[in-house]
Amino acid sequence: MSDIAKLQIDGKTYEFPLIKGTEDEVAIDIKTLRGATGGVTTIDPGFKNTGSCKSAVTFLDGEKGILRYRGYAIEDLAEKADFLEVAYALIFGDLPNKTQLEKFDADIKSKSVVDEDVKKIVDAFPKNAHPMGVLSSLTSALIAFNPESVNVDSEEEMYDAIVNIMGKFPVLVAWAMRKKEGLPLNYGSKSLGYVENIMKMMFEKPNEDYTANPIIKDALDKLLILHADHEQNCSTSTVRIVGSSHAGLFASLSAGISALWGPLHGGANQAVLEMLEAIKEDGGDTKKYMAKAKDKSDPFRLMGFGHRVYKNFDPRATIIKVAAKEVLEDLGVEDPILKIAKGLEEEALSDPYFVDRKLYPNVDFYSGIIYRAMGIPVEMFTVMFALGRLPGWIAQWKEMRENKEPIGRPRQVYTGENLKEFKTVENR
Ligand code: ACO
Repeated sequence: MSDIAKLQIDGKTYEFPLIKGTEDEVAIDIKTLRGATGGVTTIDPGFKNTGSCKSAVTFLDGEKGILRYRGYAIEDLAEKADFLEVAYALIFGDLPNKTQLEKFDADIKSKSVVDEDVKKIVDAFPKNAHPMGVLSSLTSALIAFNPESVNVDSEEEMYDAIVNIMGKFPVLVAWAMRKKEGLPLNYGSKSLGYVENIMKMMFEKPNEDYTANPIIKDALDKLLILHADHEQNCSTSTVRIVGSSHAGLFASLSAGISALWGPLHGGANQAVLEMLEAIKEDGGDTKKYMAKAKDKSDPFRLMGFGHRVYKNFDPRATIIKVAAKEVLEDLGVEDPILKIAKGLEEEALSDPYFVDRKLYPNVDFYSGIIYRAMGIPVEMFTVMFALGRLPGWIAQWKEMRENKEPIGRPRQVYTGENLKEFKTVENR
């Protein structure tokens, strides 16, 4: 392949370099387009064809169903690593050795106490507040308690900010749930691993000793790993673009949480479970809902199906489907919505509407079934996604700042009115 792309406008030819990634992905570098052409820009709603950055964090091939963090296959990481190791790899570039991991763990634990006044903020939320709203607000509130901005050129300050949020975020997650459940806001224990500690903070009841169920702990570890990064998705792009104005890490993360909340993104896991429940309540007629999903005059979409990038299968969904079956069996839970989910999947995989549009189950199609079996309330599902995505957001924010990327500021094609005469209010 040549290393130049040619563009013709009004009979004039412009040349742009082709750049290649380490997995042979090719991109046309149009940095000089506007300058060279005297103002011509590109338009690409939803950025379906636009690369916003070079990144060494996550590789994804949507046609082949490949997902790798820092070069490691997602299947290997989900099977053999734990969430904290994966978080370290995403943020610092490679899996940690034993000493690095122990230090990371200890440093996170040393920062895992939030200011007692944060509890007053939690108290002030109505009990029926959605925990994603609570989490986003509390993450923002942390800025007020930790106002120092990070000097990104200082490795030490960067590390401090990272272990700080890795320590405090699970506390906020647990408190968002405990507020909803009317439980006292508590803390974990230094003696527990990262994921076990999260479970203790979420599920421990007053006056009861808490011991994590190892089946649930392993499943949660796996779910968090599978959600840990997904290159330039909506929430990650949000984190990067907010951070590109040199807003701090916590402010950028809070914006990312809001972006994740939408049902077309992370909010899909809650939407999937509500959809499966609705189908069950309606008599379990999956065909009726398939027809609704295909009807262009009906806004209903089959939640948990389709993906902007995966056009073959979502490798995370494959792992989660197996895990859902195992967890339900191991816990002895019989959930009728698993049968409905499998029925929908089978029908969709042989339906021309879904096949032609390459719509396959995504990561969120089965995750809610596991979360429910774990005893996590439906409104917490997207919060669990945020907990998993935290290291990915941090890694991408860190990379963006270290690469000294310019402020994110897309162009537009203006389609509004041309210059009009201003009239005072009496004359309008
Ligand atoms: N149900 C029915 N039809 C669908 C679905 C669906 N879930 N998803 C896409 N389509 C159809 C669209 O109507 C469109 O049809 P058309 O070509 O006849 O107009 C075609 O498939 C392409 O869909 P787009 O919306 O253009 O695809 P896009 O890449 O923009 O959207 C998205 C991807 C948002 C994930 C979409 O598939 C969707 O809404 N899925 C349901 C929500 C969901 O599960 N989101 C979670 C994604 S994973 C994540 O964020 C972690």
